[in-house]
Amino acid sequence: MAEKSYDLVVIGAGPGGYVAAIRAAQLGLTVACVDKREALGGTCLNVGCIPSKALLQSSEKFAEAQHELASHGIAVDGVTLDLKAMLARKDKVVSGLTGGIAMLFKKNKVDQVVGAARVVGAGAVTVEGGPGGTQTLDCKAILIATGSESAPLAGVEVDEKQIVTSTGALTLQSVPEHLVVIGAGYIGLEMGSVWRRLGSEVTVVEFLDRITPGMDGEVAKNFQRVLKKQGFKFKLGTKVTGAKKSKGGVTLTIEPAQGGEPSTLEGDVVLLSIGRRPYTDGLGLGDAGVAVDNRGFVQVDENFQTNIEGIFAIGDCIGGPMLAHKAEDEGAVCAEIIAGETGHVNYEAIPGIVYTWPEVASVGKTEEQLKEAGTAYRVGKFPFTANSRARANTDTDGFVKILADEKTDRVVGAHIIGPDAGTIIHEIVLGMELGVAAEDIARTCHGHPTLSEAVKEAALAVAGRAVHM
Ligand code: FAD
Ligand code: NAI
Repeated sequence: MAEKSYDLVVIGAGPGGYVAAIRAAQLGLTVACVDKREALGGTCLNVGCIPSKALLQSSEKFAEAQHELASHGIAVDGVTLDLKAMLARKDKVVSGLTGGIAMLFKKNKVDQVVGAARVVGAGAVTVEGGPGGTQTLDCKAILIATGSESAPLAGVEVDEKQIVTSTGALTLQSVPEHLVVIGAGYIGLEMGSVWRRLGSEVTVVEFLDRITPGMDGEVAKNFQRVLKKQGFKFKLGTKVTGAKKSKGGVTLTIEPAQGGEPSTLEGDVVLLSIGRRPYTDGLGLGDAGVAVDNRGFVQVDENFQTNIEGIFAIGDCIGGPMLAHKAEDEGAVCAEIIAGETGHVNYEAIPGIVYTWPEVASVGKTEEQLKEAGTAYRVGKFPFTANSRARANTDTDGFVKILADEKTDRVVGAHIIGPDAGTIIHEIVLGMELGVAAEDIARTCHGHPTLSEAVKEAALAVAGRAVHM
């Protein structure tokens, strides 16, 4: 059995693990990063953020050519879909980016190790099943960054063809006539948008009586209304109790979430997207004595250290928002801590973005959370119908909403539904990181005509003095 020795062995090359590996190498540590996949980048690059955004972009262009360009005076006849080419473009985007991380590893002298890793205990990781055969990596520290996997649902057996998770939904070889989505969260609404734009009828079955739980309620309501206008059908307050496959499709048994008469719902393809769970299969955590909580998330302290000295964990597998940028920030900070520096992640200022059209972006507290905490706050809101750039673009669905502490005017949350919401929210994220007041944003000169002026106007509206409304 080959043996090698490192300062740090990172398990998982997703956005958490690969960023941690590079940051640790920048700080002078010798680092190996192990992943079962040969292509680096984890869920995010291979079967998550990047392929889904590639398809969102392509499907948006298809829908634009079909339905929008004519209003700009551009006549396009005979728009047809070449799904094979669309999927091939997505694959090329993915391989370009995963290859880019391999180059970054080389540049930073991070050793890539392919295979399934197992934690033997503090200071030793075994790797099996890769081209290097079975090997033991000795190390001073171990970082677990093994991510997450799609959560299962009893009675709904995934085959990644007729009943798919997001992974299968990224590679469907034909456009389903009827796509039934279970779960009205990030994946269901993004992948539902892709296939609806390409021609599917899309029905979303959601257990709760609202979509996107956790999102500001007013924004979620508006979001659902816009999606309905686009053709989405919703069955809220409904649970799926079983799925039966036949040649022609899938029959779901559904019933009211609170109990009641069951009924059936037919679809050619069913997308199961009811959340993700930590992925720690075969990692040997039990034998190594690493503590996990009752849902399987690895437990860590404020320095990302587990109950065992020298074993750290970050990213989706420790819980919190399952977002690539959250994993990345944790990875960088954890590497700094392992290298003897200090650092922390500000969980109050992590944006969440749904990349539908319009996009939905949020940061900080929702109105519901502020009410529950008894915090006195003021709301500033500005609709995109009153923003000149949105009007010039004929893209006026949605609004910017800024929540500020009533006494101090400090911005405590922001929620945007609208064009490019995911981009324009970042001035508020930076503002929150710096502890700014709504008035600071309101007095900052914003370029005209930009969508960002809606942010300035919402900040002005906190003090009841929006100009264009
Ligand atoms: P992961 O990216 O899951 O990486 C973990 C890696 O560990 C994997 O490559 C896995 O193979 C490896 N691994 C696991 N166990 C072992 C082992 N024993 N040995 C060796 N290797 C192992 N987030 C966003 O912020 N924006 C988005 O737009 C977005 N879109 C998404 C779209 C989809 C369809 C999905 C599924 C997710 C999306 N996410 C998005 C979430 C994002 O992908 C995750 O939050 C992020 O990838 C988590 O990073 P991570 O490093 O913790 O883990
Ligand atoms: P999710 O947590 O976003 O949404 C799951 C939805 O399913 C919720 O609305 C929930 O109430 C519902 N649900 C749960 N059990 C159900 C049941 N039995 N029947 C019907 N509905 C049920 O999870 P999703 O969409 O699977 O995505 C997983 C995670 O991946 C997200 O939480 C997010 O962290 C990440 N992601 C992020 C993206 C982004 O940043 N744009 C895009 C895609 C995924």
